[in-house]
Amino acid sequence: MKAVVITQPGGPEVLQIQERETPRPAGSEVLIKVYAAGVNRPDVFQRKGNYPPPPGAPQDIPGLEVAGIIEEIGADVTGWKRGDRVCALLAGGGYVEYALAQAAHCLPVPEGWGFSEAASLPETVFTVWHNVFQRARLQAGEHFLVHGGSSGIGITAIQLAKAFGAKVFATAGSDEKCDACNALGADISINYKTSDFEEILKSEGVDVILDMVGGDYIPKNLRLLREEGRLVFINTMKGSKVRGADEVDFSLIMRKRLTVTGSTLRNRDHAFKAALTADILKNVWPVLEKGLFKPVIAQTFPLEEAAKAHTLMETSDHIGKIILLNQWK
Ligand SMILES: NC(=O)c1ccc[n+]([C@@H]2O[C@H](COP(=O)([O-])OP(=O)(O)OC[C@H]3O[C@@H](n4cnc5c(N)ncnc54)[C@H](OP(=O)(O)O)[C@@H]3O)[C@@H](O)[C@H]2O)c1
Repeated sequence: MKAVVITQPGGPEVLQIQERETPRPAGSEVLIKVYAAGVNRPDVFQRKGNYPPPPGAPQDIPGLEVAGIIEEIGADVTGWKRGDRVCALLAGGGYVEYALAQAAHCLPVPEGWGFSEAASLPETVFTVWHNVFQRARLQAGEHFLVHGGSSGIGITAIQLAKAFGAKVFATAGSDEKCDACNALGADISINYKTSDFEEILKSEGVDVILDMVGGDYIPKNLRLLREEGRLVFINTMKGSKVRGADEVDFSLIMRKRLTVTGSTLRNRDHAFKAALTADILKNVWPVLEKGLFKPVIAQTFPLEEAAKAHTLMETSDHIGKIILLNQWK
């Protein structure tokens, strides 16, 4: 089969098509004929050599999510059969013609959805559901803020928070991106390049913040949170340390009884991801099937143009998800 391989750490050009042996599924695995694979920011970090895959995952093929048709099942698999249309969360190895997935990490392609749309779901839905709803326990009527509102994670967080009854705020890096966040249901979107999100939101207050930015956002986030507020980190793209004039006042955590938490999805074990899959099937899939959540595809590329897809992601000009299509299927 053909695979997009990280030939060495570096820029998008290190992504090259190579021939690899088509894998066979072991006991609890399924082999998926890939129609579409999602591109996520962690794939870019992996390509640069800054985000090593966990043991057991393909070491030189990026790709955390795919959608396609089950080609073969392992001996212990129940609940799925050859020919089923699925999307799946992977620990790596999605930029290929045939991908291995744990059967328990697969979900049905939602009714009426195509493979590109379905491939846009797993990584962001799993990340948002775990961090915003399981860890931070966002409730209907609460105020929710997501930074990077137009990212793949952001468009998912806005729509799920809205569907579950929160008042939603987002930050993004242009007016066009803010308009896109509003169109998805955000109540207030703030262009952080022209406005101070803390100034705008301080009269509102926030119960839950999903942050991928870190750096100088950290003291602002802590000040914005209401009593019993929750701050969840999924990355710190502007740095994990607070530098500059603004200081972090940890007494806010005591005085407002805040919770500061965070997680990374990829390195969690099979059992954790299987339980998360089941929770998402029960709670999120009905939202998708009711039409309360729309996929947002910024652009698609054939697998052989994975380098162009990474270049687009690194410009941060995209709104929503970038998807690779298997042109050899
Ligand atoms: N912890 C986990 O389990 C987990 C799982 C998946 C993803 N993530 C993280 O979630 C984030 C979003 O992932 P994604 O795949 O949705 O990425 P994405 O679509 O590429 O979005 C990232 C967005 O972040 C903003 N951005 C980029 N560089 C920035 C910087 N230095 N400072 C501030 N903002 C910056 C850009 O929007 P603006 O133009 O608005 O700045 C960009 O659109 C990434 O940081 C990724 O590593 C974490």
